[in-house]
Amino acid sequence: MDRVIIFDTTLRDGEQAAGGSMNLQEKLEIARQLEKLGVDVIEAGFPISSPGDFEAVSLIAREIRRPVICGLARANPKDVDRAWEAVQGAEHPRVHVFVSSSDIHLLHGMKKSRDEILQLARDMVARAKSYTDDIEFSPMDATRTELAYLYQILEMAIDAGATTVNVPDTVGYSIPDEFGRLIEGVFQNVPNIGRAVVSIHCHNDLGLAVSNSLEAIRKGVRQVECTINGIGERAGNASLEEIVMAIKTRSDFFKLTTGIETRQIYKTSRMVSEITGLSVQPNKAIVGANAFRHESGIHQDGVIKMPITFEIMDPKTIGLSASNLVLGKLSGRHAFQERLAELGYSLNEEGLNRVFHAFKVLADKKKEVTDRDIESLIAEEQRTVSEVYHLDRIQVSCGDRGIPTASVVLIAPDGQTRADAALGTGPVDAIFKAIDKIVGISNVLAEFSIKSITEGIDAIGEVLVRIESEGVTYTGRGADTDIIVASAKAYINALNRLLTTKNLIS
Ligand code: KIV
Ligand code: ZN
Repeated sequence: MDRVIIFDTTLRDGEQAAGGSMNLQEKLEIARQLEKLGVDVIEAGFPISSPGDFEAVSLIAREIRRPVICGLARANPKDVDRAWEAVQGAEHPRVHVFVSSSDIHLLHGMKKSRDEILQLARDMVARAKSYTDDIEFSPMDATRTELAYLYQILEMAIDAGATTVNVPDTVGYSIPDEFGRLIEGVFQNVPNIGRAVVSIHCHNDLGLAVSNSLEAIRKGVRQVECTINGIGERAGNASLEEIVMAIKTRSDFFKLTTGIETRQIYKTSRMVSEITGLSVQPNKAIVGANAFRHESGIHQDGVIKMPITFEIMDPKTIGLSASNLVLGKLSGRHAFQERLAELGYSLNEEGLNRVFHAFKVLADKKKEVTDRDIESLIAEEQRTVSEVYHLDRIQVSCGDRGIPTASVVLIAPDGQTRADAALGTGPVDAIFKAIDKIVGISNVLAEFSIKSITEGIDAIGEVLVRIESEGVTYTGRGADTDIIVASAKAYINALNRLLTTKNLIS
């Protein structure tokens, strides 16, 4: 069967999602997981956009050996040179050059003529080609570009050395049937199209990114650009897991394969959601909390008798645990470790000790510890590995009489404990103010939300905090059975990200 190349842009277009920024270590962690997932290409970032992005792309290029590592560049010499500089350490480097091609963009954004754009595209593809063989070219806003001009710019990019030509639906404007016809037109009217891989890149503004991508694949496209959980600019990009599972589940229809190890999908989705703080809606296809839940009696009865009645996919194929065993306070280290392995986690000895200890503490409070609880403990453990300030303890007094008061003890980067106290309008406000007195970095709280990760009064509470500083949003998460402690952890996590990004650790 023909194979579709999976080009993951979670770390580039995905990171452009509002509030979805990631730090260096987090990007590397996701890149490692994408390699395990089996993606063919990782678009690791846009190197010229910031020193942090350059560093992340270079690090990923050096560390991740199997997939192609791609860096994005606008069609200008500085961008192309910087992208090459960032990816040159990769085993399989790629430079991805893009330029707007629609008259709307040329007139209002670029303020250049079609001929000037053609020349720029040709020169910059050729410049990239002087560095490396694997070059991708994208005419931005392709779906609103006059067709004859689109064919012309693609032909010229291939002549200049592009080995992949990508057709982006940048503003998510296309309708599947129309997009399919556009792709047919590309195959029929670009004379040298056989010398390049044809790719597509769909945005989800009308909720059609996956449908458009699948239609294009049906018409012969063999690279699809997508992100985990469909995160990305505005309404996001096409979701990797939906495209891959559609191709797999309906292989009778598509007669295609991908190189994706689908049992890694769920873990990758959780990791991206944890790191970016971008939650997955419960009814999201494939990875939403309800995607394999059956509420109606008729459905439940059917699934018990024969899963195929109402389940078109086996949850195990995306890595959801097959085991019905529930862990509790009598479960030993061995059973715990086995469950971690089933969930796809392998921790070093130290990490395992810490998570096992946290599990025992939780199991003392909670009768049954579920897989979601374990994932939450692991996420908490991973957050503490790269901490700048660490929460040692807090104490709060609040109620409808008196003024909410919090005292907080943190362990500072120098290993010393720092304590302070504050009054607030409520317990969370008091805690945040006490933490601010210790950390001393100004910011504005933009979002605070709390949810319970499983059912029941003894459930773990997960808090998400977004803070803003100098126009940049930083996301923090914290989990605990005590929601006040979870709030403190989330706020410290957001501050730690701010401090690390701005390199303000003293
Ligand atoms: O949406 C878009 O057009 C892009 C390009 C850079 C490929 O992200
Ligand atoms: Zn895009």
